[in-house]
Amino acid sequence: MNRRQFLFAAACGAAGAAVWSMRPTAQGEGGHPSYFAQLERSLREHGLARPTLLVDLDRFDRNIDAVLGELGPRHFRIVAKSLPSPRLLDYAMKRAGSDRLMSFHQPFLNHIARALPASDVLLGKPMPVVAADRFYRALAAGPFDPARQLQWLIDSPERLRQDRELAAVRDVAMRVNVEIDVGLHRGGIVDPVELARLLVALDEDPRLEFAGLMGYEAHVAKLPTAGGAQARELERVQIRYRAFLDVLRERIGTPLPEPKATAARATGTPAAAPGPTGTVPLTFNAGGSPTYRLWSEVDGIASELAIGSGLVKPLDFDLPTLAAHVPAAWIATPVLKAMDGLNVPGLGPLNTLWRLWDPNRERTFFVYGGYWRARPVSPAGLDENPAFGRSSNQEMLNGSQAVALEVDDSVFYRPTQSESVMLQFGDLALVRGGRIVDFWPVLEERA
Ligand SMILES: Cc1ncc(COP(=O)(O)O)c(C=O)c1O
Repeated sequence: MNRRQFLFAAACGAAGAAVWSMRPTAQGEGGHPSYFAQLERSLREHGLARPTLLVDLDRFDRNIDAVLGELGPRHFRIVAKSLPSPRLLDYAMKRAGSDRLMSFHQPFLNHIARALPASDVLLGKPMPVVAADRFYRALAAGPFDPARQLQWLIDSPERLRQDRELAAVRDVAMRVNVEIDVGLHRGGIVDPVELARLLVALDEDPRLEFAGLMGYEAHVAKLPTAGGAQARELERVQIRYRAFLDVLRERIGTPLPEPKATAARATGTPAAAPGPTGTVPLTFNAGGSPTYRLWSEVDGIASELAIGSGLVKPLDFDLPTLAAHVPAAWIATPVLKAMDGLNVPGLGPLNTLWRLWDPNRERTFFVYGGYWRARPVSPAGLDENPAFGRSSNQEMLNGSQAVALEVDDSVFYRPTQSESVMLQFGDLALVRGGRIVDFWPVLEERA
């Protein structure tokens, strides 16, 4: 080998070593940490060997208490879609001392009216008038009184016109809350002058009653705090909300929520304003899990904040504003097959190369179910296989030799969101002190 060949070979060797040193490192720390090991024992004791959605009530309590610690005089409206089980909602309402729910789905609204007839419900989105009509048709006789306990949401004069027609045809009284665009730009009225016009139309109809405003500002949490972008947008949200409140103040002379009064703070009296008749307080709704904490710096404006997901803290809610919250919902599912190596059809010898390159492909597992909006979290070091693809029937997971997992063991996933995931497993399994203590049904599509 001459000098030039030697240098070339040395360079190739160095480049190869540099590339090899970039290999992924093996993840995995054996089996489950003690928290999940205890949950696995409890699943076994209950004979549960199928995908199961667990809600840890101890952690759920901590999250409710974290919200209560920040709310000040505002009401807590619990977002039903994000905790879609009547008993879980009932539990949250009792601990939070609130009868307020936000609903987004007509069949669930009917179920709430049946199962939680003492609740006060605000729609979180405008319903097609046909869905509103169906709600009344499906409403079973019972103590839930929509004329008093339900606020429909309207976002346009056209929807108001349709609701007026519905109220006339059904001869029902309807309370309506107006969706305002405070910066999210997901609809709702933009111009305060429009609110004045809606109020005129509402005044003309004795069947309809104005119930308040709903302005959702989820986008604020997505803005960077560095450089003050988040604080500036929250300021703009307040300016927009106040412009609508000014219209109200002028038109109905209602004393609107004032800055958090010391007395209100001391007594816990909510900053709600009496309604036009002086009887039912108006609702000025804002917030969501990602933003509710920001409102503790704001005086007045919102009389209540809507929060749901933060009580179970799925992965998408790992946000600085929810740092005080802890994950409280998991999917547990059994391992059906465990094998050494990697054998993705069609990859042939590339399987070996891939496994050599990435030690996290040394073992292969197939679990019961899969393809959920969720990520595997325990035992640590598991990942889906992008080449094999996703499966709702038997999903492939890979891990290193350091992952201690065998057939019939459980894998735990953390949902990325709660609203659709929690509806996929039948009854929720409730955990207290690390043990499954009860099973609660989820909201029903029936109606
Ligand atoms: C109008 C409205 N308010 C509040 C929320 C907050 O819900 P969560 O706390 O579950 O994020 C949502 C979520 O979609 C919403 O649409």
